[in-house]
Amino acid sequence: MPATKAIVFDLYGTLYDVHSVVQHCDASYPGRGREISVMWRQKQLEYTWLRSLMGQYISFEQATRDALVYTCNHLKLDLDEAICTALCGAYLNLSPYPEVPAALKRLRDMGLPLAILSNGSVFSINSVVQGSGLQEHFTQLLSVEQVGVFKPDPRVYAFACREQALPASQILFVSSNAWDASGARHFGFDVCWVNRHGNTFDELGATPRAVVAGVDEIPALIGAMQAAQQ
Ligand code: LAC
Repeated sequence: MPATKAIVFDLYGTLYDVHSVVQHCDASYPGRGREISVMWRQKQLEYTWLRSLMGQYISFEQATRDALVYTCNHLKLDLDEAICTALCGAYLNLSPYPEVPAALKRLRDMGLPLAILSNGSVFSINSVVQGSGLQEHFTQLLSVEQVGVFKPDPRVYAFACREQALPASQILFVSSNAWDASGARHFGFDVCWVNRHGNTFDELGATPRAVVAGVDEIPALIGAMQAAQQ
């Protein structure tokens, strides 16, 4: 088993809580925040996958906006330009999960370069990471924008390997999105699935090497992997 030389994280839902937007949705549509946020995220993902299949790449911000318009249309909620702009803006300012800052620091202290590979645009990734003050932990913030297609297209994972100058087998890819973890595993990464909410892993023909309940379990995982390699 090759040694892990770097860790590449997914961003949305893995390091940062997409449902940080619930309170903003609730402010505009009292009592409907969670319902809006869940449908909005699901549609946002579907739109990225469908756009990839259509060969019609758009920015993540556009997919996010389109998904919000769909959600409000579907739920029969009036969405004016000001609310749309404010809610999409909330997606640029998400909160990290509580355990994430300390866990990133511990991993960095272990000497591992940390990176993000996200379907977000360069602008979105920078906004979220800088807004939370966690940029010092990462050596690279990689956006699909430079590839022009969304994960789980293998060209995106190949891009991360080129940027890291490492073979896939020496990179631990960490995602809470089972579809992303599956795509990364098919590509050849070593994969850790973050399952915070007791979800069921997708049946997509791939299994992660490890499953953790939070990013704070990854330093021990790396320690165990290193011990097994000696
Ligand atoms: C990301 C989303 C899709 O790529 O989770 O960050």
